[in-house]
Amino acid sequence: MAFKPKGKSHQPPTWGFGLPPLNNMKKSLGRKRKCVKWSAGLGVVFFVVFIILHGFPGSKRNPETSIVPAHGYYVNEVPASSQLIFPTVEHTPILKDMGIRSLFILRMEVDGSKRYVYKPNDVPLPDEEKKKIMSQETLAKRAFLDHGKLVYRRENELKTVIVSLIDFENEDLDSIIAVVQNRVDYAQKHNYGVYIRWIQEFIPILAEQDLSRSGEFCKLLVMRAAMHAFPNAENFLFVDNKSLIMNLKLSVERDILNPSTLDLTLKRDVSVSTNSPIKTYTNLDLKSVKLIIPQNNRGELDISSFLVKNSVQSKAFLEYVSDPLIRDFDGISISEAISHVLQWHPELLSRTAIVISKLMSSEYDAETLLDENQNSFHYSKGDFVAHFKDCAVKGTCNADITNLYNKLQHNPSS
Ligand SMILES: *[C@@H]1O[C@H](CO)[C@@H](O)[C@H](O)[C@H]1NC(C)=O
Repeated sequence: MAFKPKGKSHQPPTWGFGLPPLNNMKKSLGRKRKCVKWSAGLGVVFFVVFIILHGFPGSKRNPETSIVPAHGYYVNEVPASSQLIFPTVEHTPILKDMGIRSLFILRMEVDGSKRYVYKPNDVPLPDEEKKKIMSQETLAKRAFLDHGKLVYRRENELKTVIVSLIDFENEDLDSIIAVVQNRVDYAQKHNYGVYIRWIQEFIPILAEQDLSRSGEFCKLLVMRAAMHAFPNAENFLFVDNKSLIMNLKLSVERDILNPSTLDLTLKRDVSVSTNSPIKTYTNLDLKSVKLIIPQNNRGELDISSFLVKNSVQSKAFLEYVSDPLIRDFDGISISEAISHVLQWHPELLSRTAIVISKLMSSEYDAETLLDENQNSFHYSKGDFVAHFKDCAVKGTCNADITNLYNKLQHNPSS
């Protein structure tokens, strides 16, 4: 099966990541000997110019960013005042009324098709200016467009960032508040960061702009954006909008990433996903693991929650699976796309811990809660995350999330 791109080209962000093009490197090495003397002279000149422009190497500056000025989707970024980054949830009804059409520019393409586009150079409106805006619509639109520009660059002890997406078109305000508050409550207990974005913010970046078809892939885009926004954090845990963090006491570093926990929950020598000929490693170096992806009892990768460590492999993984070549392959699900990439790239598979889903996503089923002989994937008391797997099909996501959240508030150990 060969992947072919279906959608049109999109505007790729210039992330602060990229390996030097190999061919150029080889060429320049070949020529090198002839001009050693020249290079030595030039080298001195460049070194002096470099020092003048950038200060001494090894001082504060990150070498990656000082060579290529890097930015994410937006050129103009805004330093976040708090490590808890989430949208203004009160804008949910206004944004829903306004609709996508009034938030982005709809551009007519040469072939007659229409796409939403965004302005990478968009200038954020300072907070003082925002205060002067009287119209609620204008304010909500401005806040929506500026939210993705927030970055948290402070160097502190921040270990983990909890990442989620919320959706003003399909979610009630109540369940949005429940999801945001749940992540904030958890993050505050452990001094973690929170990075929550509207799923609609990613529409202009998608080749297939219908969220009902490509919305799941926004999980990868928001994770990559989180890594860009929190360059100094170590771990990024995605928890989706059908899930709640139930056991707020568990720490990501101590209870999830700990090699002995991983050792217990690791799925060794099993098909990467249902029926795939490629199996997970029997011996995996747990200390070098960069990605943690749960697999459910049916052998499918469960992308409701997953974790990436801040590493070049994680960035490569997120960018590669988000590439239109993989993502826009006809009807492919995010779980199939990820399993495809892992099967073809041992370099990534050897850094991936495929774990039993209960480690970070237990299927919530009210009927099995009290069942003593429950199988290992259903939620039971003490589990980290509860996930309403089939709520979208049943149309109960909003109610499920809100009810469980209220229960959790009244009885934190349920
Ligand atoms: C939850 O997120 C998905 C994308 O992951 C999105 O398609 C969906 O509309 C969101 N809301 C609900 C209620 O499922």
